[in-house]
Amino acid sequence: MLTVDIHSQLKDLDEFLDCHKYLWQPKMLAGYPDPLRNIPESWVTFYRNSSIDQLCDLSVFKSTGKDLLCDMPDSLRQLVENLFQLCDLPRANISSDLIEEDDIYKKQILKLSVKKAHEFSLLGPYIKEHLDRLKIKNFIDVGGGKGFLSLAVSSCTCRQILIDQNRNLLNKGKGYFKRWKRSKDLECHEIFIDSDLFLDNFMLTEKSLIAGLHLCGDLSVYQISAASKNKDVNLINFGCCYHRISASNLNLSGMCRHILRPTDLRLALSPFAYKSMDTFSNNQIKNHYRYALYCLYQYFFNEVPAKSFLNKFDYPVIAKVADFSEFIDINLNNFNCFNPMNRVMKVYEDKISELASEMEIFEFFRRLFSRAIELYIILDRAKYIENKGLSTEVLQFFDGRVSPRNIGIVALNL
Ligand SMILES: C[S@@+](CC[C@H](N)C(=O)[O-])C[C@H]1O[C@@H](n2cnc3c(N)ncnc32)[C@H](O)[C@@H]1O
Repeated sequence: MLTVDIHSQLKDLDEFLDCHKYLWQPKMLAGYPDPLRNIPESWVTFYRNSSIDQLCDLSVFKSTGKDLLCDMPDSLRQLVENLFQLCDLPRANISSDLIEEDDIYKKQILKLSVKKAHEFSLLGPYIKEHLDRLKIKNFIDVGGGKGFLSLAVSSCTCRQILIDQNRNLLNKGKGYFKRWKRSKDLECHEIFIDSDLFLDNFMLTEKSLIAGLHLCGDLSVYQISAASKNKDVNLINFGCCYHRISASNLNLSGMCRHILRPTDLRLALSPFAYKSMDTFSNNQIKNHYRYALYCLYQYFFNEVPAKSFLNKFDYPVIAKVADFSEFIDINLNNFNCFNPMNRVMKVYEDKISELASEMEIFEFFRRLFSRAIELYIILDRAKYIENKGLSTEVLQFFDGRVSPRNIGIVALNL
């Protein structure tokens, strides 16, 4: 891909999102049937005539850039191609030498879950290389949990600090350093971070790198803001749980015309890619059941269900065919609240099934924007860091099928 600067990429994304806001801003559940009218008829026909494999390919085009059908409506093709281009990012350059050099990888890191092994075996070598090359004196792992990122870079010579709110996790991190006979102790600090002041007591007068992997909601903003107070600092950040960001922590750059609402922030959490076609198909069926439940609840009780109600239901782990009666069977206790119970299936078939399918059609097209919304949040943060005078990059690190929140902001003092 062409290297695009953060300012231009954010500006282009802002314009694109503004042009298409009628497709991503409305939440179908809250506004049915109006949002459905925003989808061109030709797209709906295309959706209805496509196989599940074809829908899956279209849904993950934002990550693959491949396998678009030739007979799809031009306007839809144009949209996904534009989305792909706007969200395409340079990949982080990672050497795998450290995995061979440091036994800790074979003995511990690569034995973690597939997701964690994948993340640490890429991010560990990347950070370790920068710690050595830039002669960093302090490495600070913010919200580092059990300290696996710290462990992954622990063959470096610099001082290592782990910060987390959870003492038990910190103790585990300390224990790993001892068990694997690292040449130094891990300094652990139990801190509940609720602002950007948490680094102020550390007196980081020497060169430091402040990392945060998958810091939920506002925690990412506190890490970024605390780290970028100092021009000499180096910073790596990966966000997650965007739905927990406070409105005041959006538009940090001053360039975003759209202040994302909770439903938009949730959209940023949609899968970027799927492990397999079955995962995609399961998700489709699960969505159908959720929308159907939502509508049934409204039908029987004349009000919108609480999220806690929808979350009580079990969804089939492997559901290749949508069969609502089977869904009722595995959730009989929860369905008892619909009175009389024997009407549920009839109401579903007569009034709800088609409605739920239409909602899924709208949400399918809405989800094509998920990566654009996620990147909008991340570029806003990156632009904020750049405005503080740090040279900043936004890179893709992980395989989206394994680790969906795979975009890192890197600000290094070269
Ligand atoms: C999603 S986990 C990520 C853990 C680790 N960085 C990783 O990727 O394996 C988020 C971590 O941040 C910590 N955390 C969440 N909110 C926090 C807060 N307000 N202050 C300090 N730590 C917090 C949690 O205890 C947890 O360990």
